[in-house]
Amino acid sequence: MNGPEVPRTDVKVKIRPLGPDLLEAARAFFARVPEGDRTFFKEDVLDPLAIEAWAHDTKDRRLVAVDDAGAVVGYVAVIRGVAWSSHVGEVRVVVNPAQRRAGVGRALARRGLMEGLAMDLHKLTVEVVVEQTAAIAMFEDIGFEREALLIDQVQDRNGELHDLLLLAHAVDETWELMAAVGLDDALI
Ligand SMILES: CC(C)(COP(=O)(O)OP(=O)(O)OC[C@H]1O[C@@H](n2cnc3c(N)ncnc32)[C@H](O)[C@@H]1OP(=O)(O)O)[C@@H](O)C(=O)NCCC(=O)NCCS
Repeated sequence: MNGPEVPRTDVKVKIRPLGPDLLEAARAFFARVPEGDRTFFKEDVLDPLAIEAWAHDTKDRRLVAVDDAGAVVGYVAVIRGVAWSSHVGEVRVVVNPAQRRAGVGRALARRGLMEGLAMDLHKLTVEVVVEQTAAIAMFEDIGFEREALLIDQVQDRNGELHDLLLLAHAVDETWELMAAVGLDDALI
């Protein structure tokens, strides 16, 4: 489910907002994300109209990691909750399997935290199927903590049930830490 492992190399990327100029590259990227990873992705990332709508979305933040050749190799979204959860944002990250274990996911997740701060959110969450061990390790590594386990919450395309882990990060505390120790130390 986590894709083929590749040795850690220096992948140089720029993280840019997903605007109309990057739509084609983003579509090509999502088409490369393996079926196994897409199964547990809440949105239909193969729907061209959905991706086009993202480029004009002002409520949420969606960014992509772009390599030197202009290819999208990763994606991060911070989706603002609604009504009584409008102070909470949900983070989603995915990296092209060929560029994994090279720091792209961590850079995107940290950028997601920064976007959460800029959106004035109080709390960020990430929902991960328990089998997504790489994602759990990555988010715990940047300060997210396990908050809830929902049994049999996710049904995959084969009808199999999976437990869903909810990890959370108190953005307020990051602000306070940043003021005290600086950005890099605050984001671990
Ligand atoms: C989770 C994911 C985004 C990580 O991307 P990545 O670019 O490989 O991550 P990084 O190279 O920045 O690794 C960051 C840390 O995550 C952890 N990690 C990443 N891949 C791992 C793996 N296969 N096994 C164990 N830990 C792993 C490690 O702690 C790693 O730090 P280290 O390399 O210093 O040990 C990527 O595996 C992915 O796209 N998975 C499918 C989608 C998904 O599960 N998204 C999360 C739900 S929103």
